[in-house]
Amino acid sequence: MGRFYLTTAIDYVNSRPHLGTAYEKIAADVIARYKRLAGFDTHFVMGNDEHSQNVYRKARELGEDPLAYCDRMAQEFLDVWQRMNISFDDFIRTSEPRHRAGVQELVRHMTAAGDIYEGHYEGWYCVSCEAFKQEKDVVDGLCPIHRTRPDWIREKNFFFRLSRYGAPLLTHFADHPEFLVPDVRRNEILRLLETGLDDISVSRAGQAWGIPMPQDPSSVIYVWVDALINYITAVGFGTDESLTARWWPADLHVIGKDITRFHAVIWPAMLISAGLPLPRQIFGHGWVHYRGEKMSKSLGTTVEPLDALERFGADPLRLYLVKEISFGSDGDFTWERYEDRYNVDLANNLGNLVSRVAAMAEKYRGGHLRPSAAGPGRLAALAGDALRVYEREMEAFALEGGVAAAFRIVDAANEFIAETEPWALARDPAKSERLSQVLFDVAEAVRVSAILLLPVIPASAPELLRRMGERTAPGDLRLGDAGWRNAGERTIQNGDALWPRFAGAASASVNVGSQDPSDKASKKRSVNVTADQFNNAGPAAAHDAPPSGSAPAPAPEPSAASIASQIGIDDFMKVDLRVARLLTAEKVPNSRKLVKLSVDLGTEQRTLVAGIAEAYEAEALVGRTIVMVFNLKPAKLMGIESNGMVLAASPDGGKPALVGFDQEVPPGTRVR
Ligand code: MSP
Repeated sequence: MGRFYLTTAIDYVNSRPHLGTAYEKIAADVIARYKRLAGFDTHFVMGNDEHSQNVYRKARELGEDPLAYCDRMAQEFLDVWQRMNISFDDFIRTSEPRHRAGVQELVRHMTAAGDIYEGHYEGWYCVSCEAFKQEKDVVDGLCPIHRTRPDWIREKNFFFRLSRYGAPLLTHFADHPEFLVPDVRRNEILRLLETGLDDISVSRAGQAWGIPMPQDPSSVIYVWVDALINYITAVGFGTDESLTARWWPADLHVIGKDITRFHAVIWPAMLISAGLPLPRQIFGHGWVHYRGEKMSKSLGTTVEPLDALERFGADPLRLYLVKEISFGSDGDFTWERYEDRYNVDLANNLGNLVSRVAAMAEKYRGGHLRPSAAGPGRLAALAGDALRVYEREMEAFALEGGVAAAFRIVDAANEFIAETEPWALARDPAKSERLSQVLFDVAEAVRVSAILLLPVIPASAPELLRRMGERTAPGDLRLGDAGWRNAGERTIQNGDALWPRFAGAASASVNVGSQDPSDKASKKRSVNVTADQFNNAGPAAAHDAPPSGSAPAPAPEPSAASIASQIGIDDFMKVDLRVARLLTAEKVPNSRKLVKLSVDLGTEQRTLVAGIAEAYEAEALVGRTIVMVFNLKPAKLMGIESNGMVLAASPDGGKPALVGFDQEVPPGTRVR
């Protein structure tokens, strides 16, 4: 069995985790869980970076002993990580004796290599960055990252001959193109290496909070040097050789793009100096912004992860962050988008699919599904393709691509139900075998997608599997189990909705200019835009009396009247037609023709009313892709506000037929 050792950055503990720092842990956890699913012996390490001056100052401000403060913060961090279902195997704190021993050992190795020398440092130091700054790094007297004035320091320091390692690092980058990903980070560091490296200060004089330099206990080791070494002290460097031999070098360091230089230049140079192997790969992820603004503890613009957890629990948050942000790029969090995606992906799409499969299995087969002799339908091949794409994307840490592949199966299963109409098959005894296979196929599609989603929604995917009759314990499932199985009997369990639709107003919590969690800027909004417009011109109305806009089939020769009613392209373009996916459908009480629909338009959801009840059973509509008029004024029908109009052919004397496509088109696409 292959082994995989991965780490995240260790967090400063001068304030609680925010959604940005949590994002990194969630992404790394998805990778760790994927690797376990893929059969790797996986070791996942996280931790806290405690020796920063900001941590020391914060503890003093609160009148607490720094170590006692760090102990308390460690509990807070661990509590958040536990609630987010982060499956780390070890959690290292830089105040631990095992870390201190390993750090001093590694500095001794670097000293023995002749790479540490004494000197004097005079210059800028930004405490929030915990970094020495050159004149060019200070803009208008301020650190451009934290917008605070750096300290001018003059002290005796130990220096590391980083300048020696520019050439070896360039060679390493050339020999190992995968060492730093994505490319944008690699290129940035290559440019830096090409300009040459200066030696760096690796100690701070006159400070007590930190790990003493072995050669001069009156100085402490520079906090970044101390922190970087955690990756190897966590696997026993300096304390447990066999553990180091088992796990070092690390396979992957997951870190934010702002700290790439420390990880891809200073850290490997330290390791080369100490004669140790380098980590195999560093992934520099992007930033999570809040409403397009940088989220940062020191800027005080943070979203509280616990608020996000309280909204829907851990799984929806994990799914949002992994699915909506391309791993490696920056992404945005807004409460509105979070709630919308929750409704679309979980309440309506996956959640609804599971409920429908369970309800139909119960109704038509007493909860017991068996395949028929006919063999599986088209979902089997689609799921096989999706599994291959999933594996390829996850191996490349394109986490959003992996999740999208799993959801392709969910989408296809919903479409398959709409297409095969199990309720219609159930009415015809001659189609009983076909019905058995259809039900088996959709249950199997849910089972396969749930296995692929185990790393992302680790609390609910096991429940999906249980409901679909999977007997293997989730922790024992491997990727191979996601292969399509067309055999055996499945006992399907029904249950409460896993993700009830969120229809309430949202209150967002963002801490602006304050670290006090009670200082929240709250806002209210309605997520489910309920506007339905119909203007009497929906298919039902059209069926009764075609509206003036719905022209009959074109005559061979255009008449004078039809030429007179021609419109220009400008007029046509005023009508904004969009592709939408039907999420829910219910018959409007006391109306023969009207159905109330909710639709996904990619960027938003809407409610509309359509006069298609005589042509379609409400149940059969869910999952269909339709075309709607997007920019129609809202109108009320039977007391329901309708916000858009569904397009359907309206044959004289016949039933309306919905406009559709011969291939998959994503919701929100414009139709012209
Ligand atoms: N203590 C150092 C890391 C030392 S690793 C040897 C540090 N700590 S931090 O608490 O400031 O940041 C921890 C991690 O969170 C870093 O990888 C950082 O890039 C990441 N993020 C901080 N804010 C973030 C966002 N808004 N979005 C995404 N990641 C963010 O740096």
